Amino acid sequence: MPLHEFYTTPTLRLVVGPTASVDTDVLVLPVFAEAEATPLDLPDAVASVMVAMRASQELKGEPYEQHWLRSEAVAAGRILLLGVGPSTAVTPDLARRLGTAAGLATRSRGQARVAIVAGGALQGEPLVRALAEGVTLAAFHVDAYKTRDRKLAALQSAAIVVTAGGADSLADAVALGSVLGEAANVARAVAHEPPNVLTPAVLADRARALFAGTSVQVDVLDETQLHEKHMGMLLGVAQGSVNPPRLIVLTYAPANAPANASGPVLGLVGKAVTFDTGGISIKPAENMDKMKYDMCGGAAVLGAFHALARAGAPSRVIGVIPAVENMPSGAAFRPGDILTAASGLTVEITNTDAEGRLILGDALWYARQLGATHLVDIATLTGACAVALGRVASGLFGTPDDWRDAVQGAGTRGGDFLWPLPMADDYKDLLKSDIADMVNAAGTRYGGAISAALFLKAFAGDLPWAHLDIAGTAWADEPKPYQPKGPTGVAVRTLIELARSSGSWA
Ligand code: BES
Ligand code: MN
Ligand code: ZN
Repeated sequence: MPLHEFYTTPTLRLVVGPTASVDTDVLVLPVFAEAEATPLDLPDAVASVMVAMRASQELKGEPYEQHWLRSEAVAAGRILLLGVGPSTAVTPDLARRLGTAAGLATRSRGQARVAIVAGGALQGEPLVRALAEGVTLAAFHVDAYKTRDRKLAALQSAAIVVTAGGADSLADAVALGSVLGEAANVARAVAHEPPNVLTPAVLADRARALFAGTSVQVDVLDETQLHEKHMGMLLGVAQGSVNPPRLIVLTYAPANAPANASGPVLGLVGKAVTFDTGGISIKPAENMDKMKYDMCGGAAVLGAFHALARAGAPSRVIGVIPAVENMPSGAAFRPGDILTAASGLTVEITNTDAEGRLILGDALWYARQLGATHLVDIATLTGACAVALGRVASGLFGTPDDWRDAVQGAGTRGGDFLWPLPMADDYKDLLKSDIADMVNAAGTRYGGAISAALFLKAFAGDLPWAHLDIAGTAWADEPKPYQPKGPTGVAVRTLIELARSSGSWA
């Protein structure tokens, strides 16, 4: 299914002017916990209803609280009072979520046009940008494959309404928010495709189509070329599937950068296992269907480049996405096999379900060959990381510390919660092999996210390298007012922010 069927990107605009005259289906008014913080520059008829609801304790201004009103005094078809919480607790993260909640509420009422009032504590560029980003995220639909009974209307347009001032920079903030939101939706759309549709070759085709006519160059290595590069770990994982592997390479260079430019080259490496059965070390049946999302790291890289093609970055960025399917079959690799990595290291396979690190190891090596100076990999790598950090924070590993901190900072600014986990040398024994340079899976589940990270580190050479384990955060199992069930688009904004802020780390 074409990507655009998973989301309609609403036309986003900034409206400067009186709230009452905004032409929209749904006008969203933020309501803060403190009555005095809530903007009431509204027609008397609306303001007095709000005052009365507040007096009767019906309206409290708690986060995501919702009340629907209608009033002849506004041009909008209906009004949504949307709770924010205390005005002192407003952050860009909250603004993004409120934007999504507003968009989803609009769609669930069958409405197509929303306007969000950026008033009270929800003012200024960062918050306006976050509202725009959030409402764009709300346009994603998880029911694209439903042929009937779709619950949510498509979002056609969204406006951020301000009463005055700084219109140019605010319009830019709205535009950037839309680019960031759409980048995450691209990643979510790719992640949402079922594994029978999205094979490695189809993923490569999607990448080509996504960047056709843009400044992002797409090169795809097929099986023959992967053999020529001696990517024995990637090929080992792939050999059990009838769907052959691909290595997708994306290149972004800033406009008018000299071809032989020195300077930093950010290498983004994303795991794309289009389906992970576990291979011969097969997974239990329960929840195995979820392993279609084992390509969310690769999807995040695609989403990030989508934003770079539109909003630019000051230095070069390359993306490397190893795409395979991990299947059991008569041709599959086995526990006991010894694979030789492109880097020359030999690996004793102790568990074919520890496949992500194998394909990433060869991809990290390749990113170094292509001239990356700084590396970040993104992967739904270990259940252990999800056990350790739950569904809230993604695991962050890296070396040296200042590079890991730079990645964490980009996450904080972008709106991804990344939490560092240790990688001390003492853990290294976990990967000892008697017969090869190392094993692919430790003999214990203890420290499972850490041993996986240590495996990857062996392929990053001396480069600054960071690793994001998004196994717990790439998919939402529980719907929230600001996040439907399904792919979350985690890490996309971190990668964009990191690429666009290279001046701060290079
Ligand atoms: N794709 C899985 C990790 C995963 C688990 C992602 C749950 C999302 C949710 C990965 O390939 C895997 O199977 N890892 C194993 C490693 C083990 C065999 C050392 C794991 O986590 O159990
Ligand atoms: Mn696995
Ligand atoms: Zn996997």
